[in-house]
This record gives sequence, structure tokens and C-alpha cells, in this order.
Amino acid sequence: MTISKGPSRVVVIGTGYVGSSYAFSLINQNITDELVLIDLNKEKTEGDVMDLNHGVPFGAPTKVWAGTYEDCKEADIVVITAGANQQPGETRLDLIEKNAAIFKSIVDSVMGASFDGLFLIATNPVDVLSYAVWKYSGLPMERVIGSGTILDTARFRFMLSEYFELDVRNVHGYIMGEHGDTALPVWSQTRIGSEHIDRYMTKYKPEGTQQDLDNIFVNVRDAAYHIIERKGATHYAIAMGLARLTKTILRNEHSILTVSTLLQGEYGLHDLYIGVPAVVSRKGIERVVEIDLSETEEKQLRHSAEVLKQAMKPVFN
Ligand code: LAC
Repeated sequence: MTISKGPSRVVVIGTGYVGSSYAFSLINQNITDELVLIDLNKEKTEGDVMDLNHGVPFGAPTKVWAGTYEDCKEADIVVITAGANQQPGETRLDLIEKNAAIFKSIVDSVMGASFDGLFLIATNPVDVLSYAVWKYSGLPMERVIGSGTILDTARFRFMLSEYFELDVRNVHGYIMGEHGDTALPVWSQTRIGSEHIDRYMTKYKPEGTQQDLDNIFVNVRDAAYHIIERKGATHYAIAMGLARLTKTILRNEHSILTVSTLLQGEYGLHDLYIGVPAVVSRKGIERVVEIDLSETEEKQLRHSAEVLKQAMKPVFN
């Protein structure tokens, strides 16, 4: 499979909060030549297409239309955002039954159009549903990518940049594991500029404490709950994360992002999708990056994997 030499095409399945925000991001950032929206709610999709097209003169020359699964044939990337999202008090794993049920028909419809590109998945629980798309589609694992913990990593970097009053581009660190309650911060590899965070803190923020950092991680892990309590859903940041992933693929950027990908022995884990640093390019997943973890972090990652494996059982066994 190679990204077509013709116009790039992205198909978005699901034009709810996330899908429509993602479409808006793609146009504003001039990421794709063609953008196709598919949703059960045809009237809403037509309205979104009209509204987005009327903005194209302010954005970038993007051809946008309300399409069908047939449009997946020429697509480089199919992005699935369709499904139920968390209600207040609901965990992401609570959504498994509902969303796994619709994913089989979505993937069958896409593959039925002889799709030969890459899948990006954002619907929660994204790790389990990415595994589902890989299983149902029969595509090689490198071409089925979940948004994973790219948003958690962005939240982590943002909150640390606020804490240290620095440009977020100088904060380097990862959140790994489930995109959910068992995600883990990789403190052992977190750097401010080129210095380990502990060293930086000692030198430039001596009043800071590990408790401050632990509180930051709790706010990262629980961010979605806090946003959902206030506005009913999260969508801007995840949409921008999906846009970043899309750009990395279409422009063959070879970026390291903490996406949800299939582990086949890396970190001692097998046969599950989970958020780890991986190199992403036009091919999809170039390779998983196995960073050195502390003993505690290894234990937390194994626990996160175990929780996901348990959650997958009713869907895949
Ligand atoms: C969030 C959703 C995308 O974390 O799971 O905001």
C-alpha cells in the first residue's frame, strides 16, 4: 500500500463532536486535499459539509463532501470517531459493549469498498476498539492506529509547562498505557529542556514537590471527567491530536507519538493494543520505541495491559 500520488483523501466516519471538530481542524491546517464525511445522521452531515465548505475560502482549498462507504476505495486514511461517548461518571471501558457492536459493521462496510489505506481510531475505549479494527479488517497492524495516549501526553506536557512557566515545546515526556484510568506517567524519562525533570526542579523550582507532580498527573488522567462534567463532552484537543496524526502520515513525518498500537513482545507484552511511543509515517507504524522504564513504570504498564486484556475478553473470546 502506498499513499496515492493523486489528491490525498481522508474519510471521517462519525460527525459528532469529535468528527466535526477533526474535520474543522483538517481544513484550518490544510492537511488533506479531499475530506469525506459519513454519518448515520445524513441531514447533520450535509449541514456540516455546507458549513465547512463555506469556510474553505478562509482556510485551505479542501474538497469536502458528504459521502458513502464507496468513497473509502480511494481514501488514504479512514478515521473512525463514531459511537457513544462517556456520560458523566462513566469510564471509557464502560462503552465497550455499545461501541464494539457497531464497529464490526463499520469495518465490514469500509473493507467492502476495497479500502487499502490506514485506519485511525478515536472512539473509546480506543485501545480495545483499535484491536477490534485490526482483527475485523485483516489489515497489517501497522495500518491500524489508535489515538492512544497522544492526548494524555499533550495534557501532561501542557500542565507541566504551566507549572514550570515554560514553552510547552520544551517539555518532553510521555503518558503510556490505556487511554483511561490505568494510564501511567513516565517520570523516569521526563525532561525539561535537556535536563531530567528532577534535576531541573532542584535547580529552578526548589519549592516544588513530588506531590505537585503527582497532582499534575492525576489532573491529566482525570481531565476528560472534569471537562465532561462541565460541557458534556471533550472534542477540540482529541480532534487536534487526530489532525497531528493525519499530518504525520500524509507528510511522512516519521514522528514519535504515543499512539495505541499492537504489541508483539515489546515491553514484554503480546496481543493487545495499548499506548506506547511509536514512529508514525506514511506506512503507519514504522516501529514501536521501547524506552527504558523504571521498575514502578514497568509494573504500572503491565497492570494497564492486564486491565485491557480483561476488558477485551467479552468482545473477543
Ligand atoms: C478524552 C477522550 C478523547 O480523553 O477520551 O478527552
